[in-house]
Formats: sequence, structure tokens, C-alpha cells
Amino acid sequence: MANRIHPSILNANLAALDSEIARIPSADAIHLDVMDGHFVPNLTLGLPVIECLRKNNAGRFLDIHLMIENADVWAPQYAELGCESVTFHLEASQAPIRTARQLRSLGSRAAVGLRPQTPIEPLADIITEFDMILIMTVDPGFGGQRFLDGMLGKIARTRQLVKASGTDIWIQVDGGVSEETIDRCVDAGADVFVAGSAVFRSDDPDAVVRALKGQADL
Ligand code: DX5
Ligand code: ZN
Repeated sequence: MANRIHPSILNANLAALDSEIARIPSADAIHLDVMDGHFVPNLTLGLPVIECLRKNNAGRFLDIHLMIENADVWAPQYAELGCESVTFHLEASQAPIRTARQLRSLGSRAAVGLRPQTPIEPLADIITEFDMILIMTVDPGFGGQRFLDGMLGKIARTRQLVKASGTDIWIQVDGGVSEETIDRCVDAGADVFVAGSAVFRSDDPDAVVRALKGQADL
């Protein structure tokens, strides 16, 4: 299993992203939350900013989390920038298989995200179209929310589906992940962990990343 920590910059200083990213050298990827004010009631950054981050951070794995409508139109454009992984939400896609295939053909990993109230079962027969499944463990839109324990069953069912598929699809959890909650996610079967406020509200973000990595050591 992957055992990866992908810190989210949502609670970092968004006006100084390059230096914030430089503070977490131990991170396995940088999780970038793109919000459009429609799919979620918050607005962050988009293609022009990601394009600059890509240029300034060659060598870093960019994990794009799109919380935007019209995902089928926008997601491939992030892959075209050279981002290593692009996650779009199932709820915002009319053609998830086609979009996933397009992402892969553009050289990106294809990932799909689920809001807390969206079940995993609709993905059961098409799971191998994706390289990662993102299980949201808060309502998407804001950092600093409390982890939803009710999602642990969904993580476990996703792990069963991945096991049955005989592939190594990553299972990512995002929302309220911290040194206090990560063990539950590991036990349930997640292997890629997004942590925002837990990392960037610390005086030593990289120490938190290393601590989380130790806890996630599967
Ligand atoms: C929330 C975002 C998350 C968020 C996580 O909608 O998708 O990536 O930044 O922040 P914490 O870890 O504070 O819940
Ligand atoms: Zn996210």
C-alpha cells in the first residue's frame, strides 16, 4: 500500500505558496484545493495559479483536488499543465469514465472524489478506471472541520473493492486528518492522507508530516 502524506495548502499562507511548499520537504505530494464558489461555497485558486506553481515546483508531485462544476471540461486542462494527479468529483461529472481515460492519456493519474453522502457502490464496476479514490471525511469547502467517523465504513468497503480488483488503486482520505484521527483511517484501509490544518497550523509543518508518515507506516 502507498503510505503517502499529501498536505493541503488550504490553511497555509495562500499569498506565499512557493515558500509554504518549501516548508514541507518530507511531503509525498502537495494537495492543491481548487474551488469555484459553485460546487462548494468557497473560492480558492485555478488554472493560472496552478500553472505558476507547476513551473516553480518542478520535481514536486502535484495532487490537484478539483471541487468545481463541469469537471469533464476542466479536469483535463490540469493534466495538460503536467500535474501528476487530478481528482474530480463524481457528483460534478457527466462522463467519469471518459474523463478518467482522458486524464490518463494526458499522462496524469486519474482520481475521483466522493462527498460524504455519496456512496462508493456506484463505482464498484468501474473502479479500475481510476488510480485513486478520494473519500471526503468532511463536507468539502473548508479546512479545519471535524473528522467524520461515519466515513470509516466507506473506507473499508472501498478497500474491499480495491482488493477484489487485484490492483493497487490508492485510497485517499481528506478532511480532519490529524495525528489524532489518522490511525482510524489506516485501520479502515486508507493509504494516502491529506492533512491541512494539522500541518500548517503547526510551527514546524514538516515535523507533523514526518509524524503522520510514521503513524501511517503500514
Ligand atoms: C476541504 C479540502 C481539504 C482541506 C483539508 O474541502 O478538500 O483538502 O484543506 O483541511 P483539514 O485537514 O484542515 O480538514
Ligand atoms: Zn482537498
